[in-house]
Amino acid sequence: MIATLGKETSAEQIYDQLKAMLADVVPDFELRMKSEIAAKINQVKAEKNAVILGHNYMEPALFYSIPDFVGDSLDLARRAAQTDKDIIVFCGVKFMAETAKLLNPTKTVLIPSEKAGCSLAASITGEDVRELRRRFPGVPVVTYVNTYADVKAESDICCTSSNAVAVVKSLNTDRVIFLPDEYLAKNVARETGLKIIFPTTDPRQAVEGELDYQMIGWPGRCEVHDKFSVEDIVNVRKQFPDVVILAHPECSPEVVAASDYSGSTNAMIRYVEQTKAPRYLLLTECSMGENVAAANPDKEMLRLCSVRCPHMNQITLEDTLESLEKSQYLIEIPEEIRVRAARAVERMIAIG
Ligand code: 13P
Ligand code: SF4
Repeated sequence: MIATLGKETSAEQIYDQLKAMLADVVPDFELRMKSEIAAKINQVKAEKNAVILGHNYMEPALFYSIPDFVGDSLDLARRAAQTDKDIIVFCGVKFMAETAKLLNPTKTVLIPSEKAGCSLAASITGEDVRELRRRFPGVPVVTYVNTYADVKAESDICCTSSNAVAVVKSLNTDRVIFLPDEYLAKNVARETGLKIIFPTTDPRQAVEGELDYQMIGWPGRCEVHDKFSVEDIVNVRKQFPDVVILAHPECSPEVVAASDYSGSTNAMIRYVEQTKAPRYLLLTECSMGENVAAANPDKEMLRLCSVRCPHMNQITLEDTLESLEKSQYLIEIPEEIRVRAARAVERMIAIG
C-alpha cells in the first residue's frame, strides 16, 4: 500500500488533504499544526535521501502525511528490502525497524522513539529458542517477526500474520516449533488441523515423546489483542446485529471463531474495502480503525478504543522530525546475529 502524499507537498496542501480525510476525526487546529510538522519532515526526508515506512497502526495524521509506504509487517519488510534510499525511518515498533536493518546492513535505520517495544518480542530470548531446540532436536523453528534479532537468529524461518499458515505448510515436516505468540500459533493450528502443545505450561510435557502433536508453541501474547473477549463481540452484536467483525490473528482462537473474518492488518483493510456491509468492528489497535474509517467514508467503523498499543503510540510526528534531524535512534545489530537473522527473514520473503 502506498501513502497518499508526495514528499514535496507544502504544509497548506498537506492540511487540505488531511482535512478532506480526517475532518471528522482530528480537530482542525491540530490538523494545521501537524501539517506544518509533516511538511518539514517531508523536506528533511528529501534532503537526506530517506524513506519513511509507516505501519498501519500509526495515528491518522502521521499515517496520511509522511510515509512513502504504509502497510503490515510483511509489506513493510518487502519495502525495506527493495529501497535504494540511504536512510530508512521506521514509524512502527523496534522489531520492525530491526527487520529493515537485517535486510539493509549498510543503510542507516532509525526509529523515532526508543520506547516503541512489543510485548510479544519481549516474551522470548535467543536462549529460550536454543533450549527448545535441545528439547526437540531436529524440529524446525518458525518465528513470528514480532521478535528481536537474537531470536530470529536462532530460527529457521520467520513468518508474519499474513503468511504464517503458508510458511508452516512450506516446511513440509511432521513437526514444527512455532514462536512466540500463543494465540497466533493456536489459530494456525486450527486452520491447518495440526495439534499443538505448549511444553512450558503443559503438564503432559513429561511424556511429550509419546504424544501425538505436530506444533510446539510458546506462551507469548500481544498485550493489546489479548484484551478482546467473546463478551465484547456478544455485546456489540446485541446492539448492532448487522455489524461485520474482523479480528487480528493475535486475538484468542475463541475471539477469532466468534468473528466474521480474521487476517493481518493489510488483509483487514482490504476486506473492508472490498465488501459492502453497513458497519464494521476491527478488533485491533484503535488507530487503524480511524485510518480505515477515513479511507472508507461510506462505511461506519465501530471502535473499541480502550484497547491501545502503548508501543506503536510512542511514534509521533514531532519525534519523527527529531529522528531525521538528529539521526536518532540508530538500529544496530551485531553482524554475527544479523547474518543468521537475515537468513530467516529472507527465507520468509522468498515464499512470496
Ligand atoms: P501485521 O503484520 O498484521 O501488521 O501485525 C503487526 C502487529 O504488530 C499486530 O499487532
Ligand atoms: Fe506488539 Fe501487540 Fe503492539 Fe503489535 S499491537 S506491536 S503485537 S504489543
